[in-house]
Amino acid sequence: MQHNHTGKHYINDTWPHGSVVYHVYPRSLQDSNGDGVGDLAGITSRLGHIESLGADTVWLSPFYTSPMADFGYDVANYCDVDPIFGTLEDFKTLLAEAHRRNIRIMVDLVPNHTSDEHEWFMSSKQSRMNKHADWYVWRDGRVDLDGVRRPPNNWRDALTGASAWEWSEPRNQYYLHSFHTKQPDLNWNNQAVREAIKEVMRFWLELGVDGFRVDAVYWMAKDPLFRDDPPSESYVEGVDSPHDALQHTHSSGWPALYSHLNELAQVLKENRFASRKRFMVTEAYPERDNIAAYMEFYGSVDATVAAPFNFEGVSLAWNADSWYRFLKRFHDVLGDTDASAVASYAFGNHDQPRLASRIGDDAARSAAVMLMTLPGMVFIYYGEEIGMHDVQIPVEKIQDPAAKSGLARGQGRDPERTPMQWSAAINAGVSDAEPWLPLPEDYESSNVTSQTADDTSILTLYRRLGLLRRENDSLRVGDITVLDSGHPAVLGYVRTFHGRSCAVFINFVAESVSFVTPVGLGAQLLSSNLNGSTQPMKVGSEVALRPNEALVFEVA
Ligand code: GLC
Repeated sequence: MQHNHTGKHYINDTWPHGSVVYHVYPRSLQDSNGDGVGDLAGITSRLGHIESLGADTVWLSPFYTSPMADFGYDVANYCDVDPIFGTLEDFKTLLAEAHRRNIRIMVDLVPNHTSDEHEWFMSSKQSRMNKHADWYVWRDGRVDLDGVRRPPNNWRDALTGASAWEWSEPRNQYYLHSFHTKQPDLNWNNQAVREAIKEVMRFWLELGVDGFRVDAVYWMAKDPLFRDDPPSESYVEGVDSPHDALQHTHSSGWPALYSHLNELAQVLKENRFASRKRFMVTEAYPERDNIAAYMEFYGSVDATVAAPFNFEGVSLAWNADSWYRFLKRFHDVLGDTDASAVASYAFGNHDQPRLASRIGDDAARSAAVMLMTLPGMVFIYYGEEIGMHDVQIPVEKIQDPAAKSGLARGQGRDPERTPMQWSAAINAGVSDAEPWLPLPEDYESSNVTSQTADDTSILTLYRRLGLLRRENDSLRVGDITVLDSGHPAVLGYVRTFHGRSCAVFINFVAESVSFVTPVGLGAQLLSSNLNGSTQPMKVGSEVALRPNEALVFEVA
């Protein structure tokens, strides 16, 4: 197992500013007990690898008690560990070992829904008169002229695109599930629900976690009149997912969302947790004007303890112009909003096709340079550091409920959730048993061990970048100024901290290009190719970039 390349411990005392977060999908990182499914003890055993990337934080997707209808995002007990992942003791060990290495832990908070096997729902569905009767979203539905009972409105679930309402016999009402039928939505208008989720946060904060990634927050607030969602004008049948046939303007994103999130944010600031900084990052994919949507979060939820994910890394086209326009506008307005506001960038997660499959292996290297030199928190989705691809899943091995339903399109989310490729050993060293999802055919040549031995591999690149970000305050916490590179395929920006600057230039195309540098360049700190170097250059000099190359310089 690798050790920190610096050989010494590192404390990011500006956290979460400048942080590198490693996102672990617990089923797939490392299995320690031979059941083919990753677990907490496995993650603990791989902290050395995580540290070798310069990561100072780990975000763990859910590992709580769950029937696994949505692989843990259906929580049956928020305050315990599912046996498949280990025990609460295993979690405490992971947390202690991570903290010993100065790695912070953020856990997933799933506030919008529970599992239908959660005790709150089991009692809620029994009758309209019990302690939890009003903890979920229950409706009578309507009986049409034909005498047939139908759901109360046209809302669709986000996993399959089928009706988001499910009839429940004992109570003779419909319950709302914005995701899987086994994920009933909690009623956030009910104060007891809000208090219960805040208690869940306190449970994990008291154990010592550093923060939360908050799941699917847009759905926490819906139209209190339950009006239909309007049809989407941009929907292309057979291409888009059936869920996208509607705009989700009534089923999600109602303004009460921000007061709910602020209530959660305040928990992070409670006196008893004040001994150190805690933080949360919220998951909300904007449906329209992205920058306005992100700014609404920053402006409404206490930015000293919360930030929204910025999902440009998974949605923007990989070209210089799109990134130029986004970075320039976003950081302009973010800088004006609140000095404490933290940006957050991710190029992948467990719901999105893998970066290298989306933009190609060479471009994935320049994306790595970009990610690791952007401001705020940057997220590496496990496997991205070895350039993992989406893996084709044979039909009989499909696991994702979104794909299994037959309603959603394509292979669902399994392709980006396949086991980590550690070595050429049997099962890639991830498990003694056949892993829960298949490995790609090329894992024997593409894995952590082989790439560690290769000093030009993408893994070596990520490690170099991790070190560079740690050692260089301007790249870590500096302000960003987006440059006019004068070339349509080249993006350039400068990061500045206390008068010292670094410049980053990225060639977005698979051809050699050259541009005229708008800033004087000193030493070259890194190339995405990990070879070649350039001399210092004055303003106005011509700088050459190889196909898909990204370069980092000191500014002279
Ligand atoms: C989030 C999760 C996704 C899950 C959904 C429902 O989008 O990232 O994996 O299916 O919420 O919890």
